[in-house]
Amino acid sequence: MKLSDTDIKEIEMVKAKGNIPEHIAIIMDGNGRWAKKRNLPRVAGHHQGVESVRQIVETCVNLGVKILTLYTFSTENWKRPKEEVSTLMRLMVKSLKDETDELHKNKIKLIAIGDLNSLPNIVREELTQAMGKTCNNDKMILNLALSYSGRWELVEAIKNISKQVLENKLNPNEINEEIISKNLLTAGMKDPDLLIRTSGEFRISNFLLWQLAYTEIFISDVFWPDFRCANLLEAVKNYQKRERRFGLVSEQLSNNSNSVNDVNIHSKQAV
Ligand code: IPE
Ligand code: IPE
Ligand code: MG
Repeated sequence: MKLSDTDIKEIEMVKAKGNIPEHIAIIMDGNGRWAKKRNLPRVAGHHQGVESVRQIVETCVNLGVKILTLYTFSTENWKRPKEEVSTLMRLMVKSLKDETDELHKNKIKLIAIGDLNSLPNIVREELTQAMGKTCNNDKMILNLALSYSGRWELVEAIKNISKQVLENKLNPNEINEEIISKNLLTAGMKDPDLLIRTSGEFRISNFLLWQLAYTEIFISDVFWPDFRCANLLEAVKNYQKRERRFGLVSEQLSNNSNSVNDVNIHSKQAV
């Protein structure tokens, strides 16, 4: 589905206000409940959810968002019924096949974070192709969290760091936040400015545990398959009104207080 003229106008209005989050992360939740409400099988919700992904990617590109991270499949989701997991994997392959050209046309770079080795070969192959094709694009990064969990990512980072210590490449006293960030799969990416969770659930569900330290959170009641341009804009408009204090007091912030560059004392990494 292409964005309507009304959507485009609305995007321009939000953009004109400035202070667009550079990195948006989304927990796309509520596919099963969307289907249940319609007496459809859960997988119908997953299928419909692909349409939302399309529209949200398009909206973010038009808004000038630099990184969009989508929680697509968690480590814990492997424990779902076998048929649901295999449908999700097939859907992943189909979506990559169908959408890669469009992503490329829009200069979007596709990357993925997670335990990619645990994915079926067919998904890995399709993903590798899509990532290869789009690797030089620079308009926006579409980052898929696939077979991902925040705790798993931290365990992997700790293993990496320990190895460097054992090999005498790193002194334990030198370990700091920057080194930990660099050993995560999101190395080099700015931490998310805005986290959106759909379907009215108020939890993180093992997503980006380290990176969300100072992220603004927006919970939408809308189920993911119904989440469209207007819903994303509602979240961004809400974000634009917030004051990000990063532990400081209001008076310490400059007029440009929502600019992360001014006050982000955590991440000094380039996007
Ligand atoms: C999100 O929707 C999609 C995935 C986790 C893969 P759900 O499938 O969790 O839908 P609900 O939460 O059961 O409604
Ligand atoms: C989080 O949704 C994972 C994804 C959206 C991929 P879940 O539906 O798995 O989370 P819980 O089980 O409700 O916490
Ligand atoms: Mg869910």
